[in-house]
Amino acid sequence: MGGHSEALLEHCTHQLLGLDRDAAALPHATDRLQKYAPRFQLKHRSYLDMVAAAAELGWHEVDGILLDLGFSSVQVATPVRGFSFQLDGPLDMRYDCASGDTAADWLNAARESEIVQVLLAYGEEPQSRAIARAIGAERPIHTTKQLSELVERVKGAGSRRAKIHPATRTFQAIRMFVNDELGILKKALPQAIRLLRTGGRLAVISFHSVEDRVVKRFFQEASRNCICPPEKLLCDCGHVATVKRVTRKPIRAQSREIARNPRSRSARLRVVEAL
Ligand SMILES: C[S@@+](CC[C@H](N)C(=O)[O-])C[C@H]1O[C@@H](n2cnc3c(N)ncnc32)[C@H](O)[C@@H]1O
Repeated sequence: MGGHSEALLEHCTHQLLGLDRDAAALPHATDRLQKYAPRFQLKHRSYLDMVAAAAELGWHEVDGILLDLGFSSVQVATPVRGFSFQLDGPLDMRYDCASGDTAADWLNAARESEIVQVLLAYGEEPQSRAIARAIGAERPIHTTKQLSELVERVKGAGSRRAKIHPATRTFQAIRMFVNDELGILKKALPQAIRLLRTGGRLAVISFHSVEDRVVKRFFQEASRNCICPPEKLLCDCGHVATVKRVTRKPIRAQSREIARNPRSRSARLRVVEAL
C-alpha cells in the first residue's frame, strides 16, 4: 500500500523507486503517494531485478534499500488470492498472478516426500509427514478452506487452542515455495549490498524465523573479514567484510505499535551499512 514509501518520501528529499511483484499493489500505492510526484516511480518487478530496475532510471548506486518481505494485509484479506486460511478462495498464493504455478497446481502434482520437505524447510511444521499423507489421500485440493480443514483434522482438536492457527505453518511453507521466497532473498541480498553507495544502508523486515535466519546469517557473514571455520589457525578464505552491522539484535515493534497494528508483532528489522 506504499506506507513505507510514504514515510520515506515525507522524511527525506530523495527519489524513490518502489518494486512489487504484485501488479495489484501498485495502483493503491500510486494514489497514496501522488503528493510526492515526481519524486517516486513504482514498477511491477521482483526485487530480484533491483539492479536492472535502478539502472533503467540511470541509478548505478543508491543511498538506501528497504526490503519488506512476505505478503501484505490486502493480499491476505482478498480471498481470490488464496493466501488466507480463514477466508475461502482458490488455492493460488502467487504474488504475480500472471506467471508460475498456483499452490493448487503444485500440491496436486507433487510427490508426498516433496511436500514433507517443503513443510519442514519453509514452515518448520512438526506434523509435516501426517499432513503430506492426508494431502496425498484427499487430492485434488482446490480451495484454501479444503486445505485448512484438512490440516486442522490432522492436527486434532487440541491444536485449535494453540497460539497460532493450526494451518499457519502449512500455508506459510506453501506460499514461500510457490513464490521461491527464500531463493529470491538469498540471491537479492548480495545484489542489494553491491547497489549501495559506501555508507548506504540496507534494511530488511522479516516476519518469521525462517526468513529472519537467512537475513541474520547473511549479515553476519558479510560483516566479517574472515569466514574460515574456527578450527583453522591461519585464515586463507580471502573474505573481506562488505558491510558493518547497524543492528546486532533485530528491532521489534513496541507494545504501542502492536496495539495500533497487530501484524507488527512478528516483524523483525535488521540493518547494515555498506563499507
Ligand atoms: C509486507 S508487504 C510490503 C508492503 C510495503 N512495504 C508497503 O508499505 O506498501 C510485502 C509485499 O512484497 C511483495 N513481494 C513479495 N515478493 C516480492 C518480490 N520478490 N519482489 C517484489 N515484491 C515482492 C508482495 O506482493 C507484497 O505486496
